[in-house]
Amino acid sequence: MAAGIAHEIRNPLSGINIYLSALGKLYEQGDQEKIQDSLLKIKAASAKIESVIKRVMDFSRPSEPRFVRTGINEPVEEALGLSAVMLRKTGIRVSTDFSPDLPLCRIDPQLIEQVILNLINNAAEAMKDLNREKIIEVRTSYNGKSISVTVSDSGPGVPEALRQRVFEPYYTTKSGSTGIGLSLCQRIVQDHGGSLSVSASRWAGAEFTLRIPVRERSARKS
Ligand SMILES: Nc1ncnc2c1ncn2[C@@H]1O[C@H](COP(=O)(O)OP(=O)(O)OP(=O)(O)O)[C@@H](O)[C@H]1O
Ligand SMILES: [Mg+2]
Repeated sequence: MAAGIAHEIRNPLSGINIYLSALGKLYEQGDQEKIQDSLLKIKAASAKIESVIKRVMDFSRPSEPRFVRTGINEPVEEALGLSAVMLRKTGIRVSTDFSPDLPLCRIDPQLIEQVILNLINNAAEAMKDLNREKIIEVRTSYNGKSISVTVSDSGPGVPEALRQRVFEPYYTTKSGSTGIGLSLCQRIVQDHGGSLSVSASRWAGAEFTLRIPVRERSARKS
């Protein structure tokens, strides 16, 4: 488990070391352009290390949710907005179906947005090498007790035998990933008193469903 993280940090770190030793020579040669280039590479590698460390820290000490009574569509749309460019560039078609009359619920919009972003990123990563149509569908609905958000894709899906395992911390099938994403998502959803599960989508891809219970008081629209 920790090996994955060490690996994710070691790669950019050895990159930094290589560019740093090259910088000495380039400086003597006075090659401004290559110096600039090396500095940019070092900056990118160090940002990568910083983001890996941030993920690990978020996971071991998750931020305390700041609950507000609000609609869930907003943070979901926010997450879609943030990933719009990435989705367009990777040729993924997005379809949405937001229920217009969801009751308000007690959520931390920032954290819910983070969960949806993670699910969208996973779906996009799963469809990277797909030859058929790449689709992500995001729906919200209410069944009288809980609000659900589903993120479905047309990728390879999660085999039934792995549907528990994908939520385990550090479980990953990707090289150079921490495998923290879904366990962090699950923790956030559980902090909301809800649940996160996976099944098969109508394209036989993956379908992640987040359910947040709605309490009587918050169910009343005012
Ligand atoms: N939409 C999906 N379709 C198919 N497999 C998925 C999907 N989402 C997650 N998985 C599987 O679950 C594993 C765990 O996902 P998780 O988000 O926890 O970690 P990761 O994406 O591998 O790494 P990280 O999110 O930390 O960068 C993935 O490596 C992948 O095998
Ligand atoms: Mg992930």
